[in-house]
Amino acid sequence: MGYYPTPVSVVERVKSFLKFPEERVTVLDPCCGEGLAVKKLVEGVNAKTYGIELDKRRAEEAKENLNHLLACGYESVRITNNAFSILWLNPPYDFEKMDEDAERANERKEKTFLMNTIKYLKVGGILIYIIPQVRLSKSIAKTLSSRFENIHVYRFMDEEYEAFKQIVVLGVKKKRNGPYETEYLNLVQVPSFNLDELPQLKEPIYQVPAGENVSLFKSKTIEIEELSKEVKESPLWKKMREMSVAGNGGLKRPPLPLHSGHLGLLLASGCLDGLMGEGEDLHVVRGKVIKIITTYEEIKGDFIEERNVESYQVSIKILNRDGDIITLM
Ligand SMILES: C[S@@+](CC[C@H](N)C(=O)[O-])C[C@H]1O[C@@H](n2cnc3c(N)ncnc32)[C@H](O)[C@@H]1O
Repeated sequence: MGYYPTPVSVVERVKSFLKFPEERVTVLDPCCGEGLAVKKLVEGVNAKTYGIELDKRRAEEAKENLNHLLACGYESVRITNNAFSILWLNPPYDFEKMDEDAERANERKEKTFLMNTIKYLKVGGILIYIIPQVRLSKSIAKTLSSRFENIHVYRFMDEEYEAFKQIVVLGVKKKRNGPYETEYLNLVQVPSFNLDELPQLKEPIYQVPAGENVSLFKSKTIEIEELSKEVKESPLWKKMREMSVAGNGGLKRPPLPLHSGHLGLLLASGCLDGLMGEGEDLHVVRGKVIKIITTYEEIKGDFIEERNVESYQVSIKILNRDGDIITLM
């Protein structure tokens, strides 16, 4: 799944570009791997970190390293827009596959991740975008120059550059989109340019803004574990249990066994609704009384007399363990 974690030495140098405020910052990594890059980035900083990771094993690791983690694809999340101080983006170096989204098939993931996650970064927030140098296409250059300002591009340090020839693009999200010719012309040359190595700065050049409240950070896919945890804590579920377990209506066990007439009345009134029996005999009972109005017409001389007669019909049904609904009355 294109797991190339950012080397610690690169994270340390990127950090030297950033001046953090005293207020809390929010950092999003939408493909966080084990979450180590962002964990390192905010060491000693007042920060809340948010990660998304598709690979289950790496997501488990990332839960230990980040404050909030969604174990799913970044495509299936709901997150507050314009909320994050930093977007750390080191996407998989790969093509979108046909079965993922036919419209985007054959587009590079470096581009789709960027296009789809910029919205989470607040205006004035810092983008840290790591991709192989040759992947800085014209369309990526266009997106970067129209959405970001104060852009700097460096290549990884020699020993790290060797493997995947990666670069780091840093920029500040603009208030308004708009073409920026000089930045664009600089960026389109990047793939064929001898870039400077990422330096360790003495003085940071980017002021990181404080983070906004991230009120929404959820996966659209339902994880069975998460679901059962949420259901257990839900007040609605508590109410459901109260209503579905027989005897919770305040009825006490009678001192003598009921005879069938009493039992019929209790069943029909719904007082014994809920789970009954044990083991093989476990079943759900539902009793109710339906009011039926029958209309009779009688000709009386020159006019018709209409009479409504009310009657009550008892219905008792059980649902057994095999899912059969049996009507007793
Ligand atoms: C290049 S690694 C980057 C890891 C980390 N951000 C870092 O900088 O060290 C890319 C990660 O993206 C994950 N990934 C791939 N497709 C994804 C998707 N659709 N949504 C979220 N994560 C994805 C991979 O499993 C991998 O761990």
